[in-house]
Amino acid sequence: MRMLSTLAVAASLVCTAGLAGAAPAPMGDKNAFIADLIGQMTLEEKIGQLRLISIGQDMPQPQLIKEIAAGRVGGTFNSVTRADNRPLQDAAARQSRLKIPIFFAYDVVHGHRTVFPISLGLASSWDMGVVEQAARISGLEASADGLDATFAPMVDISRDPRWGRTSEGFGEDPHLVSQCARASVKGFQGASPANPQGVMAFVKHFALYGAVEGGRDYNTVDMSPQRMYQDYLPPYRAAIDAGAGGVMIALNSVNGVPATSNTWLLRDLLRKEWGFKGVTVSDHGAIDELLRHGVASNGREAAKLAIQAGVDMSMADSRYLEQLPGLVKSGDVPVRLIDDAVREVLGAKYDMGLFQDPYRRIGNAAGDPADVNAEARLHRAEARAAARKSLVLLENRNQTLPLKKSGTVAVIGPMADAPIDIMGSWSAAGKATQSVTLLQGMRDALAGNGKVVYARGANVTDDERVVGYLNFLNWDNPEVVQDKRSPGDMIAEAVEAARQSDVIVVAVGESRGMSHEASSRTSLSLPGSQQTLLKALRTTGKPLVVVLMNGRPLTVNWEKENADALLETWYAGTEGGHAIADVLFGDENPSGKLPISFPRSLGQIPTYYNHLRIGRPFTPGKPPNYTSQYFEEESGPLYPFGYGLSYTTFSLSDITLSGQTMPRNGKLTASVTVKNTGQREGETVVQLYVQDVTASVVRPVKELKDFRKVLLKPGESRVVTFPIDEDKLKFFNARLEYAAEPGDFNVQIGLDSESVRQQRFALQ
Ligand code: BGC
Repeated sequence: MRMLSTLAVAASLVCTAGLAGAAPAPMGDKNAFIADLIGQMTLEEKIGQLRLISIGQDMPQPQLIKEIAAGRVGGTFNSVTRADNRPLQDAAARQSRLKIPIFFAYDVVHGHRTVFPISLGLASSWDMGVVEQAARISGLEASADGLDATFAPMVDISRDPRWGRTSEGFGEDPHLVSQCARASVKGFQGASPANPQGVMAFVKHFALYGAVEGGRDYNTVDMSPQRMYQDYLPPYRAAIDAGAGGVMIALNSVNGVPATSNTWLLRDLLRKEWGFKGVTVSDHGAIDELLRHGVASNGREAAKLAIQAGVDMSMADSRYLEQLPGLVKSGDVPVRLIDDAVREVLGAKYDMGLFQDPYRRIGNAAGDPADVNAEARLHRAEARAAARKSLVLLENRNQTLPLKKSGTVAVIGPMADAPIDIMGSWSAAGKATQSVTLLQGMRDALAGNGKVVYARGANVTDDERVVGYLNFLNWDNPEVVQDKRSPGDMIAEAVEAARQSDVIVVAVGESRGMSHEASSRTSLSLPGSQQTLLKALRTTGKPLVVVLMNGRPLTVNWEKENADALLETWYAGTEGGHAIADVLFGDENPSGKLPISFPRSLGQIPTYYNHLRIGRPFTPGKPPNYTSQYFEEESGPLYPFGYGLSYTTFSLSDITLSGQTMPRNGKLTASVTVKNTGQREGETVVQLYVQDVTASVVRPVKELKDFRKVLLKPGESRVVTFPIDEDKLKFFNARLEYAAEPGDFNVQIGLDSESVRQQRFALQ
């Protein structure tokens, strides 16, 4: 903020020029500057600031420019070039009466022009440098396109993979998701949201959106306060503590009150308890939806509830614009509430550096890129490096992988050459023509040394109803394009390609629309068309390498048993095909670990690892009768949280604790020696879990508290030491006090959440 005062005079002129006689407050003092500005605003101008317009949806461009010039718009989202944003900023910062700049936002979730792996993939790296770098480059590219803010990170804990938005988040664990939240905010914003090469982060969706009942999108959330505070709220808090300038409010209700009208959530918790100082925005049309939630009987009530609850900006609905003037006039809404909201909006613009220079990210026309999609604007090397770290090796029988760079490889499957799908959902301004598919990646890797034969083998699904759903909104340019050949013909071609080859690499999964907003599923298996393909390929007897591309855990039981190698690649982004080939051929030793448990079946959900203890737990090796399990199926997840293989192997020693007891405010350390017992250099993630043995409330079987990613040469060992202090032992008790209780604690350290070493100590 030091620069502000030196630029204050010039910038003040920009912002309040034309106001005869007005003596603007110095810009160096944020509060005074904003108070001064609010003092000059009409009620209509104030309400205008609370309006967030969706470009291309809410109104045509000429009308939008008029609205902005009239001071009736606070910000917009969905326009993504400097050239598109400039005339809108001209209307605000040059033509409107008070010359208050608008801001430009977009859903830059995992990349902008360059698409990085989806958040679930980034989390799989367990490398916060990777997560931060992906956000930093996303912010860099977004700001270079004239954007000031992103609706990210999305940090909703998801424990139900039926929910399509599982793909947008960082998984099921409060600690890991919180770490990712922090790293993302740091990456997007840099040192502050004023960073001209970064964007302000709006953490979302506040709150608990990932806990929608049944994993059905937009559904109700009903949750105990303990679970909320302990598991679901920490990631939002982490993003806010890391300095996120904005918060997007969730579409769901929370214990009977929609988040959008939830005064407890937005005022008591967010502002009073957590001290949040930034701006809140509703999600798309959410104020309007208060009518359908049945808590408002008309638009007037909806607007009143939202402004009272603490929704500063209304996204893509006109309730504030239509209703707030009348509500203020009648005295139903005190103007103080409007001023409070305007203060936050102007504060966010101030923090973005827009009063200093409304064009700080838009620049001047002479500097506009000739081609916004120019190759030179992409960050391919960084995207490839991130994608390499995001892949999780689930199976590798008889060292099927890595493959040799010779001979003939059959590259098969509906996801093998799917440039749109590999970008994943919410791929911002990414262009499919610039993404590297698996087929391309394999061809590039083998160039000159081996041969690739390709067959699509199957459509993603043969269910036309599903295809119709996925192509809804995109009829002119459908994302899911069906191969018109019969399934039998496609499979015959694939089997023939496999027969001519030394190894089969088959890419299967979900088209990206299947793992998206509004894409909840009732099955977690691969669609039938792809299962049939896999079974046919298995009959050839050729080594079968299954590459999964999907945005949620899938029930891949058959694949686990029958594939010679199984690689989870999520949606790996612009450089996905290269990164996957790097791992398949061993140029990169896979090191990803699952950030979410994989269930055996849909009926087994929820399978999250950190569940509460119960009175009749199922114990492996003991009779299951009268224990908590499903009798038709083996218990436990198909793949546990934190699991992932490498091309080398690691061993872990017993845990050494620095003491058997820990005094209050004291410290202990827990150490293990991890050794690379294989033939290759490789990375693994050493994971620290803690279990509170006895407490005043039921506590989880274990909770991740820390982790370290370590790189070891063959034969090398390293001592990994985790400090343990009281903070790691605290939890929310029945009165929602956050404190550690004396007693025994089990420290567990493992390379996944299931196979762990254990030691015990007592907190005194
Ligand atoms: C989504 C948000 C998103 C917004 C704007 C909504 O439908 O729920 O996550 O930021 O649209 O695109």
